[in-house]
Amino acid sequence: MLQGKTIVLGVSGGIAVYKAVELLRLLTKAGADVHVIMTNNAQEFVTPLTFQTLSGNRVNTELFNLYQEQEIGHISLADRADLFVLAPATANLIGKIAHGLADDLLTTTVMATKAPVLIVPAMNTNMYENPIYQRNEKYLAEHGYHILDPADGALACGWNGKGKLPAPESIFSTVDALLTPKDLYGCRVLVTAGPTREEIDPVRYLSNYSSGKMGFAVAEVAQKRGAEVVLIAGPTSLNVPAGVRFVPVTSAAQMGTAVLEYYADMDVVIKAAAVADYRLTARAEQKLKKTADQMTLELEKNPDILAELGEDKEKQILVGFAAETENLLAHAAAKLRKKNLDLIVANDITHEGGGFDVDTNIVRFLHPDGRVEKLEKMSKHQVAEQLLNRVNDFRNAVKTD
Ligand code: CTP
Repeated sequence: MLQGKTIVLGVSGGIAVYKAVELLRLLTKAGADVHVIMTNNAQEFVTPLTFQTLSGNRVNTELFNLYQEQEIGHISLADRADLFVLAPATANLIGKIAHGLADDLLTTTVMATKAPVLIVPAMNTNMYENPIYQRNEKYLAEHGYHILDPADGALACGWNGKGKLPAPESIFSTVDALLTPKDLYGCRVLVTAGPTREEIDPVRYLSNYSSGKMGFAVAEVAQKRGAEVVLIAGPTSLNVPAGVRFVPVTSAAQMGTAVLEYYADMDVVIKAAAVADYRLTARAEQKLKKTADQMTLELEKNPDILAELGEDKEKQILVGFAAETENLLAHAAAKLRKKNLDLIVANDITHEGGGFDVDTNIVRFLHPDGRVEKLEKMSKHQVAEQLLNRVNDFRNAVKTD
């Protein structure tokens, strides 16, 4: 997902340098071409060879190293970068940048670049809270530098508090977000995800195997691409993506109420939730006792939320999901028509790597004009990217009509 991107990773001296190694690994794994610049102090913690081996590029250390100058040169790196990431960024490095000091390769290159710069501070809590440091950080933020707040916790210096370098995964997702084009900017997207639970009695419920992964991936990717996202989800164990408005629900009825509350303001609705089709006619007030040898539960139909949205559709783009075990295309096409959708994502959950609770999906996109697009097996995040590309095609088509 960072394919073709050139990232300069600036590493300054602090115990957290070892975490920059893991960050580098994540960046290169995602396809980025990463060039590392280390300060002298950083080299006291980890050798350049480690970064060189993992990046596949010569590590830059000296401002006046003729060999390095000939090969790339600090100005060339400053020009070629799509993004600078300074991690860990010490109070000293941040202070120097804030005051326009350029006395080594890293500060010189940062000063010479027009690329966005992400600063990830890591230092002792007292240094972090020092008003002089805080003023420098604020000054840089006011001048367009991106700052990722340090994490709270036990620090290597023995103190406990704010100042830890955030987890490499969290730095990576900030990098990813900064490099993602905001092609859904201003678009309001409602996503539903996960299963619903229909209570039988105070300790039991009817539900399904949906993990919520597909819907959460759609919400995360849409937010990253600039959309305002409302995520309405049944019970799952997933972390809510940052920047998303989260509305937790339990039953289909609650999901229906929540969806209808937001519907009128939405531009796009993507219903990835596996909504229970039936609920108990009457939920038992007390725990049911094990008396008879057989028991029958009486169920009644839940309202079809998506079908209701389809009936009241005005400007909204409506996307449904159809998880099937047989006659995939026929069933999905019937739902597309019946629910008045603009697209349905059909997946055969009997295929390995294409169902509930896995990280991949094998889907087809069915369009109202009968077109069927067959996608390869891919991660749920990639399916989300593809799905949102189609949504954008609809939006652009409407704009040019
Ligand atoms: N859906 C919904 N409300 C329901 C049932 C389904 O909004 N009560 C939505 C789902 O979120 C999904 C689409 O409708 O986007 C298709 O759901 P699915 O369960 O595959 O189909 P059903 O219409 O319930 O039909 P069936 O269970 O017979 O396959």
